[in-house]
Amino acid sequence: MHEHPGHEWWRTAVFYQLYPRSFQDSNGDGVGDLDGITRRLDYLNDGTRASLGIDAIWLSPTFPSPMKDFGYDVSDYTGVDPVFGDMAAMERLIAACHDRGIRVLLDFVPNHTSDQHPWFQESRASRTAARRDWYVWRDPLPGGGVPNNWVSAFGGPAWTFDEATGQYYLHSFLKEQPDLNWRNPEVEAAMHDVLRTWLDRGIDGFRIDVMGMVLKHPDLADNPPNPEWSDGHSDYRQFLWTNNRNYPDVYGAVRGIRRVLDEYEGRMAVGEVFGTPAEIANYYGGEALDGLHLAFNFQFIHESDLRGGFSAWDAPTIRRIIAASEEGLPAGAQPCWAFGNHDRPRFISRHNSDGRGDERARAAALILLGLRGSPFVYYGEEIGMVDQLDIPEERRQDPARHHSIWRDPARTPMQWDASPGRGFSRATPWLPFGPADISVAAQEHDPDSMLSLYRDAIWLRRQERALLEGSLELLPANDLTVAFIRRAPGARPVLVAVNTTGGTTTLPMPQPGRVIIATERTLDSSLAGSLLRLPPFSAAWVALE
Ligand code: GLC
Repeated sequence: MHEHPGHEWWRTAVFYQLYPRSFQDSNGDGVGDLDGITRRLDYLNDGTRASLGIDAIWLSPTFPSPMKDFGYDVSDYTGVDPVFGDMAAMERLIAACHDRGIRVLLDFVPNHTSDQHPWFQESRASRTAARRDWYVWRDPLPGGGVPNNWVSAFGGPAWTFDEATGQYYLHSFLKEQPDLNWRNPEVEAAMHDVLRTWLDRGIDGFRIDVMGMVLKHPDLADNPPNPEWSDGHSDYRQFLWTNNRNYPDVYGAVRGIRRVLDEYEGRMAVGEVFGTPAEIANYYGGEALDGLHLAFNFQFIHESDLRGGFSAWDAPTIRRIIAASEEGLPAGAQPCWAFGNHDRPRFISRHNSDGRGDERARAAALILLGLRGSPFVYYGEEIGMVDQLDIPEERRQDPARHHSIWRDPARTPMQWDASPGRGFSRATPWLPFGPADISVAAQEHDPDSMLSLYRDAIWLRRQERALLEGSLELLPANDLTVAFIRRAPGARPVLVAVNTTGGTTTLPMPQPGRVIIATERTLDSSLAGSLLRLPPFSAAWVALE
């Protein structure tokens, strides 16, 4: 599998994020598992146009965990949690994926372990424990109190006092998720060995959880206040996270991880990172490209935080996001896009203030798959799943709901059919299902369904070299439409056009062409003369002559 730089498999792949608890239950406990995923692989890619056709899956954490944060609190990095199966089930899944040409990414959580991890148990045992320095311990300030002003991403101080040893430990998330001390070379070496263990088992790569927080300011200096914060906002925003996120030393840890991946052929990593386009560019390793292969651009998701819960969906915003990414990345680096994930409301729900979220989601599919870069599809987006907000208090699961964000609504089980168990499980599911009318069964034979749109677009993308590897040129469109052209030498160019408004609009074509896919079938014949007519909220791909 020797790969030439610029032609690695991940450059053209469509990725699919799977929340293992919610994909398919195989043992009747109401929670999804690895054998369940293996059973459903034909849906993801059976080699024909009748399947979704994705190239790689990313599994949210599958490691042994007390599940305080549903697997993002790892107590053994090299095992499999019994709720998901065992190592044999993992090996079956990897082999079955590879048989179909599907690559497998696991979720590497380097910033913190579970407080039940043996390393932390040892570390907290005494101030002189051999692994004391594997975590971040500090004395109370003179006069008492937490060592600095850092807050947890889930709210409240990022420090918890340990009575037994009289010191505070740092946790950027829950108190059950103590932060590892990556300044200790033993920690870094141990985490590199974790990577090797999985790479030896044939894993193709990793999604890396909160990569940007692994190394903090060496003196743990206070964060500066956020001038834009006011009472009423969550305390998460009270400070700028300059000393504990994207702190420059973190890029050294990134390069270390890259060196481990480079010991193997054809592996990759994608970082969960937050920041400006320039900060994101740094995760690729700058001009040298010796950092992560990909780093997520979450701009499309995070716009939602700015607009009172609903995302912006207007041409200028979309153009600005694309332009900033194109300008910000070093040569040879390719953007990585997600329109949804397990931490945010689902796309339709984020864009549904006027009940037109469905239509915007169809256009979003053609943008996501038409952009330059690596698209990540969050499970269920391809059938238009929506947030399930109607979850009784006693069935709510997400620990973050007490502090900052409530993520259960976007984590409900995959809806395979309309039956009471939705084809997911015969038991009560760990979270309630969404509306029964949204399912794979209802859509798979309907050529106008969201699922058909995704399948067709993913299939077409594979045929159009301009979409797989072409450059991206934004056209100077207006406030109503976004248009860009993808061009690769020797391939026909493809124009991606989107109408972000509720009215019909037209777009002048720079050259003659033919609509090859559109959110509405009536659009197929709509290329009258040199004008492309775009109905409300529609999008199209046009192959140019
Ligand atoms: C990441 C994960 C999120 C988790 C957090 C702590 O942001 O995506 O689900 O809660 O890290 O690990």
